[in-house]
Amino acid sequence: MHLNHPANVAVIGRGYVGLGTAGLLAHIGHTVTGIDIDEEKIAMLRQGHVPIHEPGLDDLLASQVERLTWTTDYSAVRDADVIFICVGTPPGLDGTPDLQYVVSAAASIARHLNSHSQIIVNKSTVPIGTGDYVQRLLEDHTPSFDPSRHFVVSNPEFLREGTALGDSLYPDRIVLGGQPQALDLMTQLYAPLIDQSFTAPTVAPRPEWFTRPAVVKTSLQSAEMIKYAANAFLALKISFANEISGLCERVGADIEEVAAGIGMDQRIGQRFLQAGLGWGGSCFGKDTQGLISAGREHQYDMPILQAAIDVNYRQRRVVIDKLLRHLKTVKGKRVSILGMAFKPNTDDLRDAPTHDLIVQLNRLGASVTAHDPIAMNRAAREWSHLSYTPAATVEEAFERADAIILATEWDEYINLDWNTLLATTRRPLVIDARNIIRRPINAQVEQVGRDAPRGERRRADVERS
Ligand SMILES: NC(=O)c1ccc[n+]([C@@H]2O[C@H](COP(=O)([O-])OP(=O)(O)OC[C@H]3O[C@@H](n4cnc5c(N)ncnc54)[C@H](O)[C@@H]3O)[C@@H](O)[C@H]2O)c1
Repeated sequence: MHLNHPANVAVIGRGYVGLGTAGLLAHIGHTVTGIDIDEEKIAMLRQGHVPIHEPGLDDLLASQVERLTWTTDYSAVRDADVIFICVGTPPGLDGTPDLQYVVSAAASIARHLNSHSQIIVNKSTVPIGTGDYVQRLLEDHTPSFDPSRHFVVSNPEFLREGTALGDSLYPDRIVLGGQPQALDLMTQLYAPLIDQSFTAPTVAPRPEWFTRPAVVKTSLQSAEMIKYAANAFLALKISFANEISGLCERVGADIEEVAAGIGMDQRIGQRFLQAGLGWGGSCFGKDTQGLISAGREHQYDMPILQAAIDVNYRQRRVVIDKLLRHLKTVKGKRVSILGMAFKPNTDDLRDAPTHDLIVQLNRLGASVTAHDPIAMNRAAREWSHLSYTPAATVEEAFERADAIILATEWDEYINLDWNTLLATTRRPLVIDARNIIRRPINAQVEQVGRDAPRGERRRADVERS
């Protein structure tokens, strides 16, 4: 079987994954129709505005404008060779992923399948077994469904918000699950990505060390499990570093030096060992819970994952405890938080630690001010249930503050003129929950897993030895 080149592709869902997938597929030469039920988002895209903040994405989409069409009309599925499902799978109340958007997308796709070969690709992160479920939904809603022509494939996404373009164009691996003939068609679709024959866009140059991605061909179930297990393992690494950091504080060790020391072991690796405020965002919390609830369905406990979750959310209280150790009480005090997005270079506020910090500080009677370089407008819409004063500028956040909590390691904050700004506070106290302050400043500084900022010299010593 052969796939047309360029292929006609439909991408369902215009969120972080859908937009990244549409941009990638257009950039490697395919003709892409992006479909979303959100008319406002589609209208924005048609006018050339990207509804999320992702570095370089607006330039990439603008450069592919001739290959990209945006619509709310599912009839575009009829002409598509490959249809990607990239809708959200938020956690339900018991932690089980809510599949309502996948189900409704599959039902809408089913009404428009044609009489040729078509591949329906699930890129959303879904519980193991969802590929079979989607196939059954398609069978139920498509009178002409033919399993020798209509294939369901799992192709989980591994991009990280903030570095989505590089992650998609130069991935470590492409995971494909499904029947062998469908996976052959998928490797044809991804051929320019697999052999890296496309011209690297200026917004995301190809790293010098990068050659080509590995391709993992497997079953639907294993592909779905690879995505969950990968996220769970990364979450575990961060929680491990955070757990060790608490002990470091008690025994006088320094978590950064410890993490560097253990990370030099190639079996462990340096990445995802940063202690701090813990993970947030739309994936780690949801996917660890999703895996635990899958275990529960099979009467199978997953105590390691549960502990990783507990350690993660404990870390948010640890930061408040550090603040209270200095201020005793925060009632009536002005606490300013720098950073609202769950990590730098994104406007995503889902499960952001700052949300929980504001909740805890509200309960304790503090007057909270918050600042973010990008996510303020979104917070005004999504966090209207919280009580905080948005600071229009970082200077405004420092003025008359009794304490500053550094919650997101944006470059803007790393490069601040800290001493000038601290002079405008009521009390120079900084809870640096991301360990970004590297030289002494005119303040009492609390960090995670270490005594105080030590400056670059100690770090360099570690790197040299
Ligand atoms: N965000 C990430 O970093 C990331 C990384 C890897 C995997 N994932 C997974 O990818 C999936 C999508 O995540 P996201 O962050 O892009 O979600 P998102 O919430 O940003 O976007 C989802 C989009 O789907 C649209 N949608 C919902 N129902 C629809 C329907 N029936 N038809 C058409 N459009 C519909 C929504 O309007 C929204 O625009 C999730 O399963 C997530 O776990 C996310």
